[in-house]
Amino acid sequence: MENNALDIIAGLLADRKKLLLHRFDEDFVQKVLNQQMQLCACESESAYVEHLLKDEKFIESLIQKLLNSHSEFFRNLLIFAMVESVILPIIYNRTDSKHELRIWSAGCARGQEAYSLAMLVDQYLKLQPNKKVTRIFATDIQENNIAKALLGKYPITQLKNLRVSFLDQYFRRSGDYWQISGHLRKIINFSQFDLLNENLQAPPNSLFGEFDLIMCSNVLIYYKADLRQYIIKKLLKSLVKGGYFICSEAEIGITSGTRGLRQINAYHPIFVKTN
Ligand SMILES: C[S@@+](CC[C@H](N)C(=O)[O-])C[C@H]1O[C@@H](n2cnc3c(N)ncnc32)[C@H](O)[C@@H]1O
Repeated sequence: MENNALDIIAGLLADRKKLLLHRFDEDFVQKVLNQQMQLCACESESAYVEHLLKDEKFIESLIQKLLNSHSEFFRNLLIFAMVESVILPIIYNRTDSKHELRIWSAGCARGQEAYSLAMLVDQYLKLQPNKKVTRIFATDIQENNIAKALLGKYPITQLKNLRVSFLDQYFRRSGDYWQISGHLRKIINFSQFDLLNENLQAPPNSLFGEFDLIMCSNVLIYYKADLRQYIIKKLLKSLVKGGYFICSEAEIGITSGTRGLRQINAYHPIFVKTN
């Protein structure tokens, strides 16, 4: 796309929605813009700019694509199996002075990732009572994602990786949707939080960081290289020594090589904080 059209679009997003286009990965932005132009049958960049200027719905649609909210319960089964069988037993059995265990799902979309973690924690604590009190924080840049996460209603298509026993225990049917049980909703503290906000280190309602596990999956890939590193460093500061950081498989290359993080093996996007 020509610089002129791109500048106008960037200006529109910044003025009307406070979204900074230059922060996103250039190839990703180009792909999204091409798709959006096709959708509104615009043959030229100037025609697309006209659409954006005329009708707010085209700006909304562009933002939805840039801040892609796609997620699923237990999206990567292997990663969640590692959380269940390796990470939870390690972090719960640590003999340190901390009296609560803290987990953060950063970029939680509509809550699917945070609820998946909460189900595993709940199962673990049922089998191992008397373990540390656990607090799960879940944040996303989009207010409306947080509102949807709090409501906890999902179409069956997002539950395809869910164990039947979890569906029975943690959901109830509500028309065409499945709603998370009140019990699980109470375990998680959801809030709006921009990982690129330079004034905030961790979600304010978490008071202090000190997380034992942070999952930030399918968020880094959308940003430019320097901002990916900025987010990783910010999250690392909020992680305790020996705490776990999980990204997506597509983000292994972005995360590996970060000073202070060691990948636990060559296959999984799971890292441990070393100092
Ligand atoms: C593709 S979804 C990934 C959801 C989930 N982590 C997963 O892997 O299934 C990306 C989410 O990151 C959020 N996001 C993007 N930029 C963000 C930022 N700067 N701060 C916080 N959340 C952000 C988006 O709103 C979106 O909900």
